[in-house]
Amino acid sequence: MQKLVFLTGAGISAESGITTFRDSGGLWEQYRVEDVASIDGYYRDPQLVTNFYNERRRQLQDAQPNEAHKLVAQLEAKYDVCVVTQNVDDLHERAGSTNIIHLHGELRKITSSRNPNDPSQIETLPPGKSITYPDDRARDGSPARPFIVWFGEPVPMIEAAARQVAEADIMVVVGTSLNVYPAAGLVNYARTDAHIYLIDPSPTNVPQYLNIHVIAKKASEGMRQLCNEL
Ligand code: APR
Repeated sequence: MQKLVFLTGAGISAESGITTFRDSGGLWEQYRVEDVASIDGYYRDPQLVTNFYNERRRQLQDAQPNEAHKLVAQLEAKYDVCVVTQNVDDLHERAGSTNIIHLHGELRKITSSRNPNDPSQIETLPPGKSITYPDDRARDGSPARPFIVWFGEPVPMIEAAARQVAEADIMVVVGTSLNVYPAAGLVNYARTDAHIYLIDPSPTNVPQYLNIHVIAKKASEGMRQLCNEL
């Protein structure tokens, strides 16, 4: 079986009603990154950060996987698929994908603020619970924080993701502005003979030194075209 690796970003979930970050009306027009997505912001105002992620979870609760997530999952019938996602939503899981690497954490999980990447500290919120409070405690007694990789923090899953990309026969980038490193650098790990596609209605930061086949469409329509072309 050929190996197919996806790198997905907020754009794949846009048609599910999830707000992207850098589009007009996106989250980074409404909030300051350093307030809600940095460790300093968290210690400065835990209530603001907690509210922000509670709101993200509330939005996710009302969302369903869209056709793009479903087509990604269906490709497992024909390919050895790995989904590397920058998204913290669980729409790839809910669409049926079984091999997913979350680079930037997961909204439905909380962890210790002392040892955020210790696996024994990471807890999934029970179904139906989407609100957390600043005085919630992690298993080690420290304040429980969202299991989210904030700006300035290490990205522990990047090496596993790079290994997957290096093995890919086909790489497909969907719905990311390729602004945020190290995730945006993953395309550089693709073999020189790998086929790289990029699906995005407004492609930005497309590396010109790589031979990338751009499908300038929304995720669901672009995924339909990709499935026909593969
Ligand atoms: N289908 C496909 N792509 C879309 C759609 C759609 N319906 N709508 C918007 N897009 C594209 C935009 O054109 C843009 O290129 O999705 C991309 C979204 O880019 P960003 O908002 O920058 O999101 P992303 O690249 O995932 O951000 C990376 O930044 O703040 C952080 O940690 C956060 O993981 C996130 C990271």
